[in-house]
Amino acid sequence: MAKSKKVFLCSNCETNFSKWSGQCSECAEWDTITEQEQPVFPNKYSGYSGALSEAQTLSEVNLTSESRIKTGMAELDRVLGGGLVQGSVVLIGGDPGVGKSTALLQVSGTLSSKIPVLYVTGEESPQQIAMRAKRLRIPDSNLRILAETRIEHICAVAASEKPHILIIDSIQTMQVADVSSAPGSVSQVRESAARLTRFAKESGTAIFLVGHVTKTGDIAGPRVLEHIIDVVCYIEGERDSQFRIIRAVKNRYGAVNELGVFAMTENGLQEISNPSAIFLTRGSEPMPGSVVMAIWEGSRPLLIEIQALVDESHAENPRRVTLGLEQNRLAMLLAVLHKHGGVVTYNQDVFVNVVGGVKVNETSADLATILAIVSSLRNMPLPRDMIVFGETGLSGEIRPVSGGQERLREAAKHGFKTAIIPAANAPKEKMKGLQVIPVEKISEAIAAL
Ligand code: TYD
Ligand code: MG
Repeated sequence: MAKSKKVFLCSNCETNFSKWSGQCSECAEWDTITEQEQPVFPNKYSGYSGALSEAQTLSEVNLTSESRIKTGMAELDRVLGGGLVQGSVVLIGGDPGVGKSTALLQVSGTLSSKIPVLYVTGEESPQQIAMRAKRLRIPDSNLRILAETRIEHICAVAASEKPHILIIDSIQTMQVADVSSAPGSVSQVRESAARLTRFAKESGTAIFLVGHVTKTGDIAGPRVLEHIIDVVCYIEGERDSQFRIIRAVKNRYGAVNELGVFAMTENGLQEISNPSAIFLTRGSEPMPGSVVMAIWEGSRPLLIEIQALVDESHAENPRRVTLGLEQNRLAMLLAVLHKHGGVVTYNQDVFVNVVGGVKVNETSADLATILAIVSSLRNMPLPRDMIVFGETGLSGEIRPVSGGQERLREAAKHGFKTAIIPAANAPKEKMKGLQVIPVEKISEAIAAL
């Protein structure tokens, strides 16, 4: 017979705790943890009466190739790993106003001329959506709209309409009847997403979920959705910049960190198929502290400007501020610069910014960061047609990075004339129009300037 054990359960996010506390450490709600009885079975496997599934060897597994639906936005298809997989659930996250609804309305407008699409809105009225569709010049289409927030009802309508693609805008407005907490709470969001995922898997419908990012940068509480769904994408971009970047952070059907670049225009999101060009639009004068680097994003090189501002500090602790780069990395690079390059910055404030709101989490930006700092410190503008990439080691050595040839080719394509790169990445043959300066040590790179 089952015995029972005392557990402490948060009524908001349903996390288990071994002891009581006033605030839930998972969802930060106060006064939601209560003591509950939980049955314990003496032996987990005795009395199991379900059907037993059989194990099989890997080669026996049926590999019907998953069919992919093209969304009509090539950049989005690339982020998804080559199109939308049937029965998959894709979360599109981002700050309010970044363009999630716009992107999905454009996608559903294009697709609904070929396949049935159902757009469920919990935020805007059908009139608002129709007006936006008109502004986006979406041709009169068969797109079906449903204004509803009850998951049971949405699944029932979807089961009878049988759309190939279902769009839920947004998951924070959805609710299931047998969860008592308010829409937008962790348990409602999680349960709604779980039911929709089950529906997607059973019916083969592909689902897009819109998710607003909370102040802490997570989608409705700490990573509650990421393990349930197949693909998690974020739309990033500053409100006053017109560029938007779509990035996959989890993808069961393709590579992550693939990047799609768009511009928000009056006619909605427009794809930018040659992103290097937009991140390089700079003034005509060479400026100190500005360097173009070739980073690797997903499956392609991307040329991006990095800027440094080094200024005399009057504070006890000089400031080290990074935008788009990791702060610890900057601290490390400054130490290496001092020890192996003889460049002193302990009495300087150092600010580093990656242009265009792009986040770089790749070590090939090291050398460019260092050269931008030296350029700003010495008030020495660098040639505008120079490109830099390479990783810096703690003993001042410049280490090679992957994709060296592709990075150089991209630079040559955009008219760059010189490249300061790791010696181990130097091409065997001369590249047309591009003078390569291979460096092995940080001191050589500074001397090359
Ligand atoms: P929206 O898609 O409503 O954002 P989300 O669903 O992520 O909250 O995006 C709205 C913003 O986009 C709004 O500030 C206006 C702007 N916008 C354009 O610049 N051009 C357009 O064609 C549309 C439809 C919106
Ligand atoms: Mg919206």
